[in-house]
Amino acid sequence: SWTTTSVVEEQVAAIRAQVGTKRAICALSGGVDSSVAAAIVQKAIGEQLTCVYVDHGLQRKGESEQVEKDFVAATGVQLKVVDAEERFLTALAGVSDPEQKRKIIGREFIRVFEQAQAELVAEAGAEGEEVAFLVQGTLYPDIVESGGGTGTANIKSHHNVGGLPDDIEFQLVEPLRQLFKDEVRMVGTELGLPDAIVQRQPFPGPGLGIRIVGEVTKERLDLLREADAIAREELTAAGLDREIWQCPVVLLADVRSVGVQGDGRTYGHPIVLRPVSSEDAMTADWTRMPYEVLARISTRITNEVAEVNRVVLDVTSKPPGTIEWE
Ligand code: XMP
Repeated sequence: SWTTTSVVEEQVAAIRAQVGTKRAICALSGGVDSSVAAAIVQKAIGEQLTCVYVDHGLQRKGESEQVEKDFVAATGVQLKVVDAEERFLTALAGVSDPEQKRKIIGREFIRVFEQAQAELVAEAGAEGEEVAFLVQGTLYPDIVESGGGTGTANIKSHHNVGGLPDDIEFQLVEPLRQLFKDEVRMVGTELGLPDAIVQRQPFPGPGLGIRIVGEVTKERLDLLREADAIAREELTAAGLDREIWQCPVVLLADVRSVGVQGDGRTYGHPIVLRPVSSEDAMTADWTRMPYEVLARISTRITNEVAEVNRVVLDVTSKPPGTIEWE
């Protein structure tokens, strides 16, 4: 019968048999799937695995640290961090169109990852070793869906760590391909990963880059990071993390509205809160969350985040709205 222990043991044996004495690499995003996939492969082959984390500068507050410190501490994995913030910001400069942003972020990600990959292959070659395997956090529903085609597949060009180029000459290691999301979380816990990683809500591959309506700049990202951190902190404190599927926090960088603070007039940007309830993200409804929690988030964001003088609530279901604004 199915137990997380038996799944882990079975996969560890299968990975060892598949990889042998060769080396494997894995692109870590900080998400549940790539983290659990990497952790199980690490358990199987230890130092034969190297993880690559592309820091594109579009993460939420504390997210890079979660990968670079917490994940490494929990697994002992060998991690190569690529600081690519400047590269991504340069590529995104002057771009406001959502699809263009998505394409640029996806393209830059692949380029940066391929470069890191080539470096690892060369280093291993110099040691007389061969990098032959690429670890991917593919789940059972991913396999089913990519065969059938989903309703939203063509609405936005999705970017995630699973969407790496197919022309690479690696063999795939996909230890989660028989599992559903809730099973992946259980396996992650069994492997000793912290709840902050295992219970993480969905977060899009292009990160905060598609939560700024308008051009993406470092200043705007920092501002959004602060607002988002406050919202997440208050939602967690109110015990709403399970009830809410995810809550995008969006900066309307191209919009300004008049406000008042003390004796003075302000002219700042609105922040949108988009809490949704959903089963699978294909459809969603806006979450009827307590007014007191909304009030706390609003007060804190307008007090603590300079440039933001208004907080608004998105009360649109999906369809017709999508969960993300871009
Ligand atoms: P939408 O906005 O299409 O989002 O209703 C549905 C779900 O997908 C997430 N999302 C993404 N996830 N790469 C991802 O890995 C992406 O490019 C991407 N775009 C949206 C979104 O957060 C929601 O959970």
